[in-house]
Amino acid sequence: MKQHLVYIKTIGCQMNHYDSERMVQMLAPLNHLLTEDAEQADLILLNTCAIRAKAEQKVFSFLGRLRRLKQQHPDLIIGVGGCVAQQEGKRIFERAPHVDLVFGTHALFRLPELISKVREQRERICDITFSNTLEEPDLAGAGVRRTTAFVTIMRGCDNFCTYCVVPYVRGREMSRPSNVIIREIKSLVQNGVREVTLLGQNVNSYGKKGHIPCNFPELLKKANDIDGLKRIRFTTSHPKDLSDDLIEAIASLPKMCPHIHLPVQSGSDRILKRMNRGYTVKNYLKKVSKLKRAIPHVAITSDIIVGFPGETEEDFEATLALVQEVDYDSIFSFKYSDRPNAPSTRFRDKVSEKINQRRLEHLMRLQEEITRKKNNALVGATREVLVEGFSKNANSRLTGRTLCNRIINIEAMDSLLGQLVSARVEKAYKHCLMGSVVKIDQVKGNTHVT
Ligand code: SAH
Ligand code: SF4
Ligand code: F3S
Repeated sequence: MKQHLVYIKTIGCQMNHYDSERMVQMLAPLNHLLTEDAEQADLILLNTCAIRAKAEQKVFSFLGRLRRLKQQHPDLIIGVGGCVAQQEGKRIFERAPHVDLVFGTHALFRLPELISKVREQRERICDITFSNTLEEPDLAGAGVRRTTAFVTIMRGCDNFCTYCVVPYVRGREMSRPSNVIIREIKSLVQNGVREVTLLGQNVNSYGKKGHIPCNFPELLKKANDIDGLKRIRFTTSHPKDLSDDLIEAIASLPKMCPHIHLPVQSGSDRILKRMNRGYTVKNYLKKVSKLKRAIPHVAITSDIIVGFPGETEEDFEATLALVQEVDYDSIFSFKYSDRPNAPSTRFRDKVSEKINQRRLEHLMRLQEEITRKKNNALVGATREVLVEGFSKNANSRLTGRTLCNRIINIEAMDSLLGQLVSARVEKAYKHCLMGSVVKIDQVKGNTHVT
């Protein structure tokens, strides 16, 4: 069989990165090796994201850059998968005629046969059919060599927040069977993984639909029992479905990291209602207090959208007040953008770009102050760190994360890769910490300290 080289570019969320790894695994038996160099590849796959207008623009500008490559190598096959593929379907061929294959989010596991077909028949294919069941080949953790890994536990979303494209491009919520997930994590651990992050658009509703006799806290208990696994994280937890059982599981299971990503989106009840989020500021804050009471030093992070249609200065001030009150460890903040199919696209009272930009900068400045204050408070403290790899900025340093998900760089000692160490925080920066190793592998991954 001919040896092929595949280059994969991934745009978007952690679930897209997980799916790109599945592509590599599925293509390996068809003699495809991964290359870091697009110029060398005879297959280029782009895994796309449609969450905001900017993400979609990135897709088409990347495809534009591939036009020259396709002219030089007519045998090159270009495939576009993921959320923009699902959203745009055949329209991608019109905007980028050099694309050979469009495969939607539910066609992911048909990728090998689709590629063989394109190669044999030399014709363009678009597969964006949705299915009602999750049919996945058994790919359990093949060949990964690293310390941390993502594991998607459910696909799709049923929440229909009015601004969001995900339910339309990923389809209805479906949970993967718990035994398959646990087998996958065990296999990752055998390959050296020490920390897993369980992924879903709303992990709190894991197992609620279909015939899965296991809910999310129960799944966490099963993962916690896996020997050799040191840390468990998860994302995203929808505030409306955050249960006492889940808070109890984070508080009591030794391997759970004391961190929760609990996106609030806005601090104004009026806007939350228009977003169809299903909670009020009051019940969000109630859950935050419960978390803080049950899990000492819990880190709470959030996503916030500024400039949702109809957002007044007063609504925005309410968001700032909430950010201050929760005292988030970090937030991702976004300017609202219209998305195809999302109901808010038809809302008339859009906020101007100028105001959006000003609000975004204001919110980011506020959060920077809070993060800096929290990081500064850690100087001198000793924290457990899982060493994940080399720092991007300084190759002589190793990088890892504290239990609360703060990035910490430490002086290099290759032998520490993949290990839990105890590190003293020496310096605090805007987005990370600098530390020095105090003890190696002495701390168990189970004390709830920041
Ligand atoms: N399922 C997760 C979010 C996934 S999308 C949740 O419910 O929290 C990640 C983030 O993108 C969202 O939390 C939201 O803050 C942002 N986002 C989604 N659609 C957007 C849009 N149309 N404009 C701006 N930001 C958006
Ligand atoms: Fe989008 Fe809302 Fe679903 Fe999150 S919960 S993916 S924001 S529809
Ligand atoms: Fe983007 Fe699709 Fe993820 S729209 S955020 S890649 S689910």
